[in-house]
Parts: sequence; structure tokens; C-alpha cells
Amino acid sequence: MVDFVSVAKTDEIQPGERLIFELGKRWIAVFNVDGQYYAIEDVCSHDDGPLAEGKLIGCQIECPRHGAKFDLRTGEVLTPPALVDVPVYQVRVIGDEIQVSTERS
Ligand code: FES
Repeated sequence: MVDFVSVAKTDEIQPGERLIFELGKRWIAVFNVDGQYYAIEDVCSHDDGPLAEGKLIGCQIECPRHGAKFDLRTGEVLTPPALVDVPVYQVRVIGDEIQVSTERS
């Protein structure tokens, strides 16, 4: 069974915004894309850049360091220089709480 933890209230992450938080020893970011929430690990697979601080383009995040793009929904790498996908986490909303899975999907 997958465990979830509450990370924010729904009104704390508006559409187009993100929240970066530490869970255990990992940095994770939750994004609100038009009311849908997605969570990825905040470490670029290319050179450990702070991926979640990059530019949000629809459901894509562009790494601020060298410009690799990833799909927030799947973690799939879309453009080089990164070659490896990044981990994603399940997100659910219970009442007004945004919850993220404690394990990678
Ligand atoms: S560290 Fe992200 S593209 Fe290089």
C-alpha cells in the first residue's frame, strides 16, 4: 500500500505555481498545472540541477541549468542534455489537503 503525506493546502499552490519541500532525504516539488497537481524529484538527471526552479511550460519543466525539459506527468526526459527520466510521485487531494506519495511511482 502506498503511503501519502500532506504537504500543503490547495489554496497554497495556485495554478502555475510550485512548492518545493524535503521529504526524508529527497527534495520534491509539487506543481499546479491548471488545477492538476504533479510531483517530481527536484534533482535534474543531467547534472543534479535544481530542476523545479526552472520554467514551467504547460506540463513541461525546463531545467534552469542547461535547459533539459521533462514531462511533469511522467518524469520523461524530452530534450537533451539530460538522457534519463526523473522520478515522479503520486499526488492526491483529500479535502483541501494536497498529499504526495512517500515512494516514487
Ligand atoms: S543540470 Fe539540468 S540540464 Fe544540466
